[in-house]
Amino acid sequence: MFVHERCRPEPVIKKCLFPVAGYGTRFLPATKAMPKEMLPVLTKPLVQYGVEEAVEAGLTEIGFVTGRGKRAIEDHFDLSYELEHQIRGTGKEKLLTGIRDLIGSCTFSYTRQVNMRGLGHAILSGRTLVGDEPFGVVLADDLCFGNERGVLAQMAGIFERFGCSIVAIQEVPESETHKYGVIAGQGISDTIFRVNDMVEKPAPGEAPSNLAIIGRYIFTPDIFEILEGTAPGKNDEIQITDALLQQARHGAVMAYKFAGRRFDCGSVEGFVEATNHCFRQQAGTG
Ligand code: G1P
Repeated sequence: MFVHERCRPEPVIKKCLFPVAGYGTRFLPATKAMPKEMLPVLTKPLVQYGVEEAVEAGLTEIGFVTGRGKRAIEDHFDLSYELEHQIRGTGKEKLLTGIRDLIGSCTFSYTRQVNMRGLGHAILSGRTLVGDEPFGVVLADDLCFGNERGVLAQMAGIFERFGCSIVAIQEVPESETHKYGVIAGQGISDTIFRVNDMVEKPAPGEAPSNLAIIGRYIFTPDIFEILEGTAPGKNDEIQITDALLQQARHGAVMAYKFAGRRFDCGSVEGFVEATNHCFRQQAGTG
C-alpha cells in the first residue's frame, strides 16, 4: 500500500487588498506629508501590522490601492540599500530583521485610486490586482490582535467552511453605531451570523443591531460586478456595505465575531490606546 506524503494544501485565499488612499485628516499635521498608514505604533508602522496579519493567514499576495502622497508605503516594503549598508554589522541590524523577512515572504502590487469615491470604489479599483478569485481586505486603521490566531486567519477558516463573503464584527455601544457599517443577522453559533441586513453608518436609533463591521473582510469576486452597479450611498460615496447587502440578500454574507482586540487607530484616542497596549505587551506587563 502506498502512503501518500502529506502536503499542505494551497491556501484558498492568496490575495489581500489594502485600501490606503485616504487622507488621514484626523492626524494633521502629522499626516501632511506622511501617509497615515505609516504612523508607528511603537516602532512599527500601522500598515506593517496589517500585512503581517495577512501573511499569517496565508495571504501573501499583497495589493495596495494607493493614492497621491503615499509613496512611503512602497519604500517601506522594499530594501533600503543605503540604510542596510550603513548598519551592516552593527547592533542595529536586527531591527530590520522583521521587515526584511516580511518582504521576502510576500509580493507587493500597487494601483492608484485616482478619484476618492469611497471604500467601495477603492476596493473596485483593486480589481486589476485581484482578478477572479476570493480575496481579503484589511483597513490598516483598525489594528487587530487575535487571541490565538490573527483575525484574518480566523476569518479564512470561516471562509473555508461557508465559501461566501465574510465580515468581521464586534459589539459596540449604541452611541457608536453611527460610525460603522452595522449588520443584522441570524445566529448560527455564538460567533457566526448569516447577515440579512446591513446599514452604513446608521442615524441614531436606526441601527439594526449593535454589531459593527470592523476593517477586515473576505470577499467572493462577484463583489466587483456588484460594485460596478452600486450607486453612491451614504456621504455620496460608493459604499462596500451597500454592495455586501446585495450578496447578503442571497444569503451569501457571514458575519464573524472575532476572538481578540481591535483598536481604532483612525482616531487619536484609539491610537494612544493601541500604543499603550503594545508597550505593556512588550514590557511583559500587559
Ligand atoms: C469603513 C466602512 C464601515 C466599517 C468601517 C470599519 O468606514 O465603510 O462600514 O464599519 O470602515 O472601520 P470608515 O471607517 O472608513 O469611515
